[in-house]
Amino acid sequence: MCGIIGFTGRRGCAGFLLEGLERLEYRGYDSAGVAFARPQGLVLEKAVGRIANLRTVVEKSREDAFAGIGHTRWATHGCPSIENAHPHCDAARTVAVVHNGIIENYGLLKEQLQRQGVRFVSETDTEVIAQLLGFYYDTDMPTTLRRVLPMLEGSYALGVLDARAPGTLYCARRRSPLLIGQGEGEMYIASDVAALVEHTRTVYPMEEDTIAALTPQGMQVCTLEGRAVCLAPMHITWDAAAARKGGYAHFMLKEICEQPQVLQDTLEHYADLARGCIRREAMPFTPEQARALSEVTIAACGTAYHACMMGKALLEKLAGVRTTAEIASEYRYAPVCDGAPENAVFLAVSQSGETADTLAALRKAKAQGMRTIAMSNVIGASIAREAGTVVYTLAGPEIAVASTKAYLAQVLLFELIALDLAHLRGRLTDAQLKEALAELGRLPEQAAAILARREVVESFARRNRACHDVFFIGRLMDYTTSLEAALKLKEVSYLHSEAYAAGELKHGTIALIDEETLVVGIATQPEILEKTYANLQEVHARGAYLLLIGTPPRTLVAPDCEVWSMEGASWRTAPLLATIYAQLLAYYTALQHGCDIDKPRNLAKSVTVE
Ligand code: G6P
Repeated sequence: MCGIIGFTGRRGCAGFLLEGLERLEYRGYDSAGVAFARPQGLVLEKAVGRIANLRTVVEKSREDAFAGIGHTRWATHGCPSIENAHPHCDAARTVAVVHNGIIENYGLLKEQLQRQGVRFVSETDTEVIAQLLGFYYDTDMPTTLRRVLPMLEGSYALGVLDARAPGTLYCARRRSPLLIGQGEGEMYIASDVAALVEHTRTVYPMEEDTIAALTPQGMQVCTLEGRAVCLAPMHITWDAAAARKGGYAHFMLKEICEQPQVLQDTLEHYADLARGCIRREAMPFTPEQARALSEVTIAACGTAYHACMMGKALLEKLAGVRTTAEIASEYRYAPVCDGAPENAVFLAVSQSGETADTLAALRKAKAQGMRTIAMSNVIGASIAREAGTVVYTLAGPEIAVASTKAYLAQVLLFELIALDLAHLRGRLTDAQLKEALAELGRLPEQAAAILARREVVESFARRNRACHDVFFIGRLMDYTTSLEAALKLKEVSYLHSEAYAAGELKHGTIALIDEETLVVGIATQPEILEKTYANLQEVHARGAYLLLIGTPPRTLVAPDCEVWSMEGASWRTAPLLATIYAQLLAYYTALQHGCDIDKPRNLAKSVTVE
C-alpha cells in the first residue's frame, strides 16, 4: 500500500522517478508526487489521481535535480488531494518525506508540535514525520532520524531529502518494505523490485529499524542506536520484460495467459516429472518432520487466503494432516490457546510477502514457538526473511491488482507439498505418487486449452452485460473456487457477487434468487457432483439463469444452461482449470463494464497497512 521511490546519482532523475512510480502504481493510485533536491532548495510537484497526471506537471519542470523522491498514495489519513499527497515538508521546507505505513500516535505528536507553534497543512500522519525532522533537526539528517524515529509508533518505510545535503538520499524502515538498489554510480530506493528491475539486478532489502544515507558513491547504514550495519545483497532473477504488458490490453489478461507457463515452471522446480518423484531438496519438510507433523495452520489474506483453503483441503485429503485455514487479520487478534501443540507448523501465504496482517500472523505464531514456513512469490520479501523456512511460488511479477497467476501457483505448490507429505507419511505408494504427478503434468496443456477457448467466455460476458447479481455455488474444493471466483468478479467488475457452499443456499440466500440472477455452479469433484447439480435445479426452478463450470451432467440442468467444461481433467486439475474460467469471466465482464481492470477503485495490491 503506497509506493515510494528515490534516486541519487549524477543525472537528472525526473524520468527515473516517474517510471518507477508507474511500476509501483498498483500499490495505490489516488494521488502522487515527487520532490527534487536542487542546490537552490527543494522543489515539490504533486497531482491528484494517476501518475499520468503527475507526469504532465513534472514534465514542465527542468530535469536538473540529481536526487529525488516520489510517492504514489493509497489514502489512509485524509482524502486524496494535493495537500495530502506526498512528499510532505517541514515548515521551513528544508526536509521532504515520502512514507509508506501508518504512524499510529500521529495525533498526539501533532498536538505537541502545534502547541509549540508548528502549522500543519495536511491531514496526513506523514506530515508529522517531516515536521518532527525539521523541528528537532540536529547536526545532520542521520542524527536527526535517530532522534525522531523512536518517537513514532506504527510502521514506516521512509525516503527523505534534506536541502542542506542535496546530493544525499536518506531512508529508514520499520515494518514496511524498502529496498536499496545499486546502479552504476547511482543508488535507488523502492518499495519493491518492480520499480528497479530495469536499472539494477542488485538490491539490498533494508533491515528492521535501520537508517541509510545514500550518495552516488554508495551507502552508509546504521541502527537507531548508531551501530553500523552491513546489508546482505540479493540478486533479482525476474526478467525486466515480465513487468511490462507485452502487447496485452491489460496486465490481468497477460497474467491469466501466463498461467500454463507458471504451472510448468512450478512443476519442474518442485518435481521431477520424468522420474515421477518430488524434488526433496525443494520441499519444506524433511522425512522426519513429515512423519512427526501433528497439525498445520495456514494464514493469509484475500486471494491467498483462498489458496490456504485449498491447501487445507489438499493437506487433509492427501496427507491426512489436520489443517486450519485462517484469515490473517483475524488470526493475529484471536485468543491464544494453551501451549503450541508439539510438531505443529504455521504456514504464511502471500504473493507480495509484505501483507501487514499476514506478517503479523507469522510473528504471532513464531512467538508461540511454532515452526514457521513462508510461501512467497517475492524473493527476499519480509515474510520470506522472517519465517524459519521459505518456499517460493514461481509466478514472476504480478502487476494487476487482482491476483491470478499467483493463486494458481500457490494451489499447485500446496498440491505438491501435500503429495510429498502423503508419500513420506506412507499414505501414497511410489506408483501412486508417479500417477498423481503425471496427472499434474498435463495441467499446463489443459490450462492452455481453456485459454484457447476464451472467446466463449467473452461472448457470454457480452450477452450477460445487464446482470447485476451473481452467485457462485459449489461444495468442498468447488466452494473454495466459488469464493475465489466471486472475489475476482466483484473486485474488477464491481458487480455484486457472492459465493455460497451449495448446500447452504436454501438456508436463506435462495430468497434473493429471481430472473435477474446469474447462478454459477462449480462442479469438479466427482463425489459431490450430483449434489451441486440438484442445487442448480433448485435455483433454476426459482428463475435464476445458469452457468456450469466443470463436469456437465448427463442431462442438462436447464435447456439454456451454459456449460464450460475441461476435457481430460481430473479432480486434481479441474479446480485450477475452473479458476481460469472464473478469472476470464471476471476479466471480460469488467471489460464490458468499462472498468479500470488493472487498478480497480479503492483497492491496492500490496496491503502493507492493517
Ligand atoms: C490485496 C490484493 C489481493 C491479494 C491480497 C493478499 O487484497 O488485491 O490480490 O490476494 O492483497 O496479498 P498477498 O500479497 O499477501 O498475497
